[in-house]
Amino acid sequence: MTDRIHTVPTEPFDGQKPGTSGLRKKTRVFMQPRYVEAFTQSIFDAIGGVAGKTLVLGGDGRYFNDRAAQVILRMAAANGAARMIVGQGALLSTPAASNLIRRRGADGGIILSASHNPGGEDEDFGMKFNGPNGGPASETVTDAIFERTRTIREYRIMDAQDVDLSRLGEVRLGDTVVEVVDPVADYADLMAQLFDFAAIRSMFARGFAMRFDAMHAVTGPYARELLENRLGAAPGTVVNATPLPDFGGGHPDPNPVWASDLVDLMMGPNAPDFAAASDGDGDRNMILGRGIYVTPSDSLAVLAANATHAPGYARGLAGVARSMPTSRAADRVAAALGIEAYETPTGWKFFGNLLDAGRVTLCGEESAGTGSDHVREKDGLWAVLLWLNILAARDQPVDAIMTDHWARFGRDFYSRHDYEAVPTERANALIDRLRGMLEFLPGQKFGELTVAQADDFSYVDPVDGSVSQRQGIRVLFTDDSRVVFRLSGTGTEGATLRVYLERHAGPHADHAQDPDQALGPVIAAAEAVAQIREHTGRDRPDVTT
Ligand code: G1P
Ligand code: ZN
Repeated sequence: MTDRIHTVPTEPFDGQKPGTSGLRKKTRVFMQPRYVEAFTQSIFDAIGGVAGKTLVLGGDGRYFNDRAAQVILRMAAANGAARMIVGQGALLSTPAASNLIRRRGADGGIILSASHNPGGEDEDFGMKFNGPNGGPASETVTDAIFERTRTIREYRIMDAQDVDLSRLGEVRLGDTVVEVVDPVADYADLMAQLFDFAAIRSMFARGFAMRFDAMHAVTGPYARELLENRLGAAPGTVVNATPLPDFGGGHPDPNPVWASDLVDLMMGPNAPDFAAASDGDGDRNMILGRGIYVTPSDSLAVLAANATHAPGYARGLAGVARSMPTSRAADRVAAALGIEAYETPTGWKFFGNLLDAGRVTLCGEESAGTGSDHVREKDGLWAVLLWLNILAARDQPVDAIMTDHWARFGRDFYSRHDYEAVPTERANALIDRLRGMLEFLPGQKFGELTVAQADDFSYVDPVDGSVSQRQGIRVLFTDDSRVVFRLSGTGTEGATLRVYLERHAGPHADHAQDPDQALGPVIAAAEAVAQIREHTGRDRPDVTT
């Protein structure tokens, strides 16, 4: 057996540094000889080896998913792993992988995904490591992985044919058991424990109509099983349900830009009652009602305010957490419920400690991510099911639920402007300039708005005391409007500048205003503070969500 195990020399590759969510690069970068191998061995080495360990493996089905999975299996075998639990066809949504790691008591998992980024030979690919709690590796672990990538000189791999991942069951690769599992079953069972399936089923039976757009990505099989098979939604409710290696040529990103067909449907005369979409790897969600788009920040707040309708949350919430750029709508709900609200840096990994410590039950990000303590990742279908549970319990349409919510808590008008593929030096110059101005900003007027406070967000993890600095420039105005500037940590080309804009309108204000109009003064102040045009050379954002 051992003669099949080879130690292969390699040079370290530059830039194998995990970002906001694992290592993300152009697919062709990952396709270079030894690239996946060097990164995989670095993960294994950084976690103290995988001898005798059990890992979960799966991905979102994008181009190169199957090839990378086979390499990782051969390497896990050569490194002495006891068991590899792999989704059939090397598929696993990110939340389903998180659930499997937890349910099976695995030592961690490798997820192959670049999330909502497009897939294909000329597009993007990604790899990330999740720890034994099922969540994205902490910064300590990702730093250790990166350090290892800089010094790695060899990797171990077994000579073997591809494992047949189309067949459920166990096979052996050397001494390693490769267990191919149904990627949907355990996850669907977990959802059935959390939500009132009987109530949702009876809502569908009464004629409630919805559309779920899987965007040709991994949630297709999950949504079919849950919505159509288990909950009785009409056949055809789930569209674009077959995962494709290039996601049909689009961006599998559930937002009003990339899922514009769904938005058009919901704003048109033939809109069903409810619509939703999820992203490449199934952790994001978009929520729409007839004639209304619910921003992710509002969705988190509504879910927090209504979660007790679902059996899994009937005992109430321990607390809520949101990433810093997410609107403060959820904080208002937490204050009303008398529970703790936490503000963390961007990226799901910062929620892990709070969830593990039982300090929060729900978390969310403005980037279409919502989740709870049921797994350690954000979870697109979970959010859709919690919405369905709430709609069934309240027996009201989405727009009425939103109107009620704003009348109670006020409305946080919100938008994010992205400037993509900006030359890195220019984007850095914009942020550096803002950093240099921070102490002088309070008291200055920009158009109608006066700065109350400004800082570069830094976070002290309340559980382990670890500090994360330089997480985004926050400018708060005296009328409680806010703008945040930060550079993306997931892009694969140049820099992406994200400008997060928000303005609070109290419970008695006009909530029916057009968000762009309501945000007008904040948008103008953001330009005046940061001189975005001058720095980026762009006169408008590439993507507005
Ligand atoms: C983006 C989102 C962030 C999310 C991450 C992974 O990161 O903004 O909220 O956690 O993708 O899905 P960014 O590109 O801004 O670093
Ligand atoms: Zn994703």
